[in-house]
Formats: sequence, structure tokens, C-alpha cells
Amino acid sequence: MKNASKLDASVAENGQTAYERAAEDGIDPRCIPVRLDGPAPVGDEIISPDYSEEDRSNWKFLFNRQMDLLPGRAGDAFVNGVESLGMTADKIPSLADMSAQMETATGWRLARIPGLLHEKDFFSLISNRIFPSTDYIRGTDELDYTPAPDCFHDMFGHMPMLTEPAFADYYQHFGQAAMNATGQQRVQLERMHWFTVEFGLVRQTNGLRIFGAGILSSKGEVAHAVSGKAEVLPFSAERVVDQEYEVWNLQPRLFALESFDQLVSEFKNWTLTQGLV
Ligand SMILES: [Fe+2]
Repeated sequence: MKNASKLDASVAENGQTAYERAAEDGIDPRCIPVRLDGPAPVGDEIISPDYSEEDRSNWKFLFNRQMDLLPGRAGDAFVNGVESLGMTADKIPSLADMSAQMETATGWRLARIPGLLHEKDFFSLISNRIFPSTDYIRGTDELDYTPAPDCFHDMFGHMPMLTEPAFADYYQHFGQAAMNATGQQRVQLERMHWFTVEFGLVRQTNGLRIFGAGILSSKGEVAHAVSGKAEVLPFSAERVVDQEYEVWNLQPRLFALESFDQLVSEFKNWTLTQGLV
């Protein structure tokens, strides 16, 4: 999930569904969050789709393109995660298989979901250490950019980091805090999600590296994030929750962690001051 729109597809107004209103307003209906109408399949309940030749070719193209860009730019945790999950260009991963591997690594599991989830469903799953993922892939006409969720972003972008123990704990804690948040806290947590899970950087001994899924799964964002063109500030939870972000343009400002333990401890302290845990 790169971004959650404020629209709710389940609410009809003036006889129109939110999808119909979105179409009239020029909003891509795939960017409207949906509520689950029942429990999503988890782990070995998930049946893999029959991918077409075009699907497999698109995965291969995207995987190879990003992996070529990532040496010297992606963080060690991400690179190690891609390897330990056995991700390759030649196969779109099976959610059931990845779920089993992730459960062994950090106790996270995967759920198959139909598209962008309403925040309540999303946070409920995250707070239970279950990552919701799509299993369909963007079309050939959207290889450079898609505003909608797809499995290249969900699998390649997000899953490797869920094998990193401290990050894995942070993300569950984030889901628990989000379930309790009200008012402005919801906006603050949206920013925290954006600047860590999606657009986070970490300072390693060998330099600035990327761990956010929104950057790692995007050709343009990878080149921009550690190019020196974006302003990079030291991570501070207090600062991040007050920082607005760009949804439609490259990020002018990003934050760099010293370590994932810093993320865990700063976020814990912030949620304590906010009464969210
Ligand atoms: Fe995402």
C-alpha cells in the first residue's frame, strides 16, 4: 500500500457508488480502498493464480530492472531478505510459499487481498502480524508506473523487509497503534508509515541505503532517493509525524534511520506519549 485515499468504496451517495463517483472525478478506481467482505485467505489457504506469459514476462522485466539498480543503493536487510525468500526473476512468488518462509523467519504470515484495503482491514491484519498482499501484476502498459497496488510492489517491495526482526516488530507495533489512533494521530501515523515503510532510508557504515518499499519497487524513486537531490534528515519520530509528503511527485525530503532498533525504540516512545499502547 503506497497510499490510502480518503474515499470509501462501500459508501453509496446520491445513488452512486464511490467507484462511479471516482470515475466521474477522474480518480483511478483501483486507488479507492475496499472493505473485505469476509476473512482473507492466509498462508496455505491461498491458491496461486495461473499467471499468463505476459504476467511472467512483466515480473521478470521489473525484477531484473530493480535488481540492476539496487547494488549500492538498497540496504543490507532488504538485499538479504530477497535472497532468503528465494525471489528470482524467473518466477512470480507463491504467496503460500512466501508466507511459510516468512513465518519461519519472523512469525509474519501473508494474506491474499483483492486490492487497496480500507485502513481498518489493513491495520487489523498488520496488528496480527499478517501482511496483506495482492497476487496480480501490472500490465505491460504500466511497467514504469502504476498508481494501483500490484504484487510487484507488495512482494518485491515489502516482503524482504519483513524478514528483518526489528523492522518486523516495528510494523506489528505500528498496526496496533493505528488501531487505537483517533483524529490527528491517524494523520501522524500515515506520515510515519510513508517515511518508514514506504520511503525509509537507513545509514549503514558503508553509506546511505534504501529500505522503503515505495522506493525499492520504483525505477524513478530509486534513482532519486540517494542521488543527493532529496534532502535527507536524521530520523526522529517527533519530526516525521509533522512532515507532509508528496503523493504524486518525487520526495523532496526523506529521513534516515541510524538502525532498525532506533525505529523500534523511537516509535515505542512516541506511541507511549500518545497513549496508543
Ligand atoms: Fe506499499
